[in-house]
Amino acid sequence: MIDLYLMHWPVPSQGLFVKAWRALEKIYAGGGVRAVGVSNFLQDHLDTLVAETTVVPAVNQIELHPTFQQAALSAGCRAHGIAVEAYSPLGRGADLNVAAVTALVTKHAVTPAQIVLTWHLGVGNIVIPKAMRLHRMHENLAAAEITISRDEMDTITALDSSARIGTDPTKAAFTQM
Ligand SMILES: NC(=O)c1ccc[n+]([C@@H]2O[C@H](COP(=O)([O-])OP(=O)(O)OC[C@H]3O[C@@H](n4cnc5c(N)ncnc54)[C@H](OP(=O)(O)O)[C@@H]3O)[C@@H](O)[C@H]2O)c1
Repeated sequence: MIDLYLMHWPVPSQGLFVKAWRALEKIYAGGGVRAVGVSNFLQDHLDTLVAETTVVPAVNQIELHPTFQQAALSAGCRAHGIAVEAYSPLGRGADLNVAAVTALVTKHAVTPAQIVLTWHLGVGNIVIPKAMRLHRMHENLAAAEITISRDEMDTITALDSSARIGTDPTKAAFTQM
């Protein structure tokens, strides 16, 4: 049994994501998967799905890390009851070097990755960091046991910018997939 089956991109230029979602709905209704969701869907794509189809996505997996937070989209997901799953949650490593993150490392006796993951969990994001090394996987999992203060959360939230590192969903073309 598949736990969660995602549509990877909306590819709005193709105009097919509602039709594709109906196919996922059929798989879900037939019991082939426990949950269905989407990835890289922006607010207008989500609003279209919710208006024109029956099953609300369980998850929207989007690029989200301290320097690119997509707060409005996250709020829009939650307003529809859609869980927010952060991909590239460490900014592919780049967000581990910013001063607001490294400043908390000594005080809490943790690593930069653990600070960033603790921030995500505090915000309410599902996180899927990619790590090739076993010790990093253990380190990342241990972030679930760490707590930082409200003020410390806020110093990381203040890092937000419009600097996306991945593909823009409005521009992603079928030929890239
Ligand atoms: N839905 C989508 O369109 C989409 C797009 C992009 C990515 N994703 C998914 O998102 C997941 C993660 O994203 P990502 O790989 O782009 O970025 P990421 O998880 O933010 O960063 C991965 C980088 O961080 C390093 N890293 C991991 N844990 C670390 C730690 N504790 N300390 C220091 N460095 C650490 C990794 O190194 P090592 O691997 O060398 O250990 C790797 O270089 C992947 O599963 C990917 O499939 C989805």
